[in-house]
Amino acid sequence: MIIAVDGPAASGKGTLARRLAAHFKIDHLDTGSLYRCVALGVLRAGRDPNNESDAITAAHDVRSLDLSDPDLRDEKVGNAASTVAQFPAVRQILLDYQRQVAAAGAVLDGRDIGTVVCPDADHKFYVTASLEIRAERRIAELLDRGVAVSPDEIREEMAVRDRLDRERATSPLILASDAHLLDTTNLDIDSAFSYALTLIEQN
Ligand code: DC
Repeated sequence: MIIAVDGPAASGKGTLARRLAAHFKIDHLDTGSLYRCVALGVLRAGRDPNNESDAITAAHDVRSLDLSDPDLRDEKVGNAASTVAQFPAVRQILLDYQRQVAAAGAVLDGRDIGTVVCPDADHKFYVTASLEIRAERRIAELLDRGVAVSPDEIREEMAVRDRLDRERATSPLILASDAHLLDTTNLDIDSAFSYALTLIEQN
């Protein structure tokens, strides 16, 4: 079984994807981590995420990087991930690995899973929430990790990242016509999970 979970940053898609994977005892791939690895590789090499050839070089090295590196969670890495994700060649390099994981049966979360990576996924969800609530969640998460934040800056950076991810020419974040829309603005994770499970069991 392949489950695609797409949506913007801090929408709750990662948590939902993890819960579904645990429930069905299949793998979970957070595809945002792959783009974050590329971004971290570029930044650590002292290169520029806006430079396509620097991003491509880092994408070729992505398998040697650690998907659980805590530095991947930095806001500046997330923003740079959105920048490198604009380049079609970077996306192409990461595509094979994502499809390989999916082929064994998995839940993948990201931006283009239901539209490009796994258009034939058995179940597709598009998880979203208002910008305000997503920014609040991200701020709470950063404070929890002891990171000092400027709430206005986080909100603004999230709006910029939303725009980049939604308006890029290749594989933008869009609602697939056959995806279930799940708005978590007023929904906690348990309710979102039960709702998703009910939809899967009905199909
Ligand atoms: O899910 P995330 O916030 O960790 O993702 C970081 C960035 O990676 C996101 O802003 C855009 C990019 N990304 C993408 O373009 N396609 C995906 N399938 C996953 C992430």
